Amino acid sequence: MAIKNSFLQFFLLTSILTSYVESIDFNYPAVFNFGDSNSDTGDLVASGLEGISDPYGQTYFKKPSGRYSDGRLIIDFLMDDMDLPFLNAYLESIGAPIFRRGCNFATAGSTILPATATSVSPFSFGVQVAQFLRFKDRVQDISKTTGRKYDKYIPAQDSFEKALYMFDIGQNDLAGAFYSKSFDQILASIPYILQEFEAGMMNIAKFGTDQSKLDVLGCVSAHNQAAQLFNLQLHALSKKVQGQYPDTNVTYVDIYSIKINLLSNYSRYGFEQPIMACCGYGGAPLNYDSRVPCGQTKVINGNNVTAKGCSDSTEYINWDGIHYTEAANQYVASQILTGKYSDPPFSDKMPFLLKLKF
Ligand SMILES: *[C@@H]1O[C@H](CO)[C@@H](O)[C@H](O)[C@H]1NC(C)=O
Ligand SMILES: *[C@@H]1O[C@H](CO)[C@@H](O)[C@H](O)[C@H]1NC(C)=O
Ligand SMILES: *[C@@H]1O[C@H](CO)[C@@H](O)[C@H](O)[C@H]1NC(C)=O
Repeated sequence: MAIKNSFLQFFLLTSILTSYVESIDFNYPAVFNFGDSNSDTGDLVASGLEGISDPYGQTYFKKPSGRYSDGRLIIDFLMDDMDLPFLNAYLESIGAPIFRRGCNFATAGSTILPATATSVSPFSFGVQVAQFLRFKDRVQDISKTTGRKYDKYIPAQDSFEKALYMFDIGQNDLAGAFYSKSFDQILASIPYILQEFEAGMMNIAKFGTDQSKLDVLGCVSAHNQAAQLFNLQLHALSKKVQGQYPDTNVTYVDIYSIKINLLSNYSRYGFEQPIMACCGYGGAPLNYDSRVPCGQTKVINGNNVTAKGCSDSTEYINWDGIHYTEAANQYVASQILTGKYSDPPFSDKMPFLLKLKF
């Protein structure tokens, strides 16, 4: 019975996605993404700072793919819907990395605010933007000096102006702060976090010229109340950037609402477990123990215990206690594509500014 429900859900989602692909004609030559683990397609792992092991990737890639899920991420589904290949991580140097259709600077653990000595990732938002600007300079330099020799591997010169820029970051700024700061302190820090975000976005928007087509998709997340306040201010920021760069289309997508709806009404969307982790240790209600991360074996009370993956991750929203399952990511992507959660309303010319809540 459970399995049947899951398949039904998958089928319905597939038909929703298909109908939108038919009605919305995305036509971006390239996509550049900035963010954290929500959209990291292998950057942190490529950096050598962290490894991920089985059962990550068990559902789709059949091996760990550098993604913090059992399968594809929201960004993978969106790329697919735009008929573009999965984004290569900026730091992935092996396997003739192909950046023709864009590049992914997102790195798990990244914050908007500059990294500190205890940060998981040194690649905070400002660093990712700097990486992008260097990437762009290198592409222009290589095109100029080597002609078309590297066409297969690097974006076309004019694709920077026509590309879709996505931002999916902020969760770690808020979630991390909950360990060390009071609620009021966290709320008070939001304007500073957004100032840093604004500086980075403006930095990217700056190179856009009259005929530029800069599109912005940004994502942020955190504990509910702080996230809502953050998102309110992010919404205002999207209007501000839009006002300052009229040649740019900035759209804000309310992923918070998509996820709250998914968690509240999970059974309607074919899920059976709204909060329990598929891959974890400890059993119900959360199956999460921070001492035993997904895929690892640790000694607890003198016994070896392993956090293993569940047998059917399509029943679960939560993959490893922190990140979403592929099934949940697919649901969120399908809801983004309905355009119902966007301001201004979604159209084929309209990219989006994403905000995430976890
Ligand atoms: C922005 O959106 C408007 C309205 O959909 C469209 O006409 C215009 O071409 C878009 N501009 C860019 C730069 O994408
Ligand atoms: C759950 O679904 C009901 C019925 O569609 C809807 O009214 C409600 O807003 C949903 N919950 C959330 C949190 O979105
Ligand atoms: C846990 O497993 C390791 C590796 O198999 C083994 O060396 C160790 O003795 C085990 N420890 C306990 C407490 O069972």
